[in-house]
Amino acid sequence: MLNDQVQKEIRGELEHYPTPRAGCIEALKIVQNHERWVSDTALQEVADLIGIPAAELEGVATFYNLIYRQPVGKHVILLCDSVSCWLTGCGKIRAGIKQRLNIDFGQTTADDRFTLLPMACLGNCDHAPSMMVGEVLHQDLTPESLDQILEGVD
Ligand code: FES
Repeated sequence: MLNDQVQKEIRGELEHYPTPRAGCIEALKIVQNHERWVSDTALQEVADLIGIPAAELEGVATFYNLIYRQPVGKHVILLCDSVSCWLTGCGKIRAGIKQRLNIDFGQTTADDRFTLLPMACLGNCDHAPSMMVGEVLHQDLTPESLDQILEGVD
């Protein structure tokens, strides 16, 4: 159940939009900021707050791939899985993550710290291979820089 603070933030956010429906992605992001992901229950409650059918909001949430509909770890790693990164060695980065964290795409570490997800082009092709850890973009990745990056995450 969405707590009072989350409901308050959502209501405040929706005031910035011409219609509540227009703010639905931001509303889902607020839930995600608090809960890490958007459960079915939370989605229904957001739909009720906005005044749209849950099925319609589900369509938005599913289309927008930065809304997580399944539990994720504390830090989500979005590893680019597109052409420029393929050509510059993202396979080695994926292998390095697998070796270091023992997870592959779609998986979360046993300690719930990291989830690894594939991402179609991060728009950083001139510095491929690239990935995001949370909100931070990391580029020109090498197996060595990967180790440094992961060690630096709290
Ligand atoms: S293909 Fe990886 S950032 Fe564009």
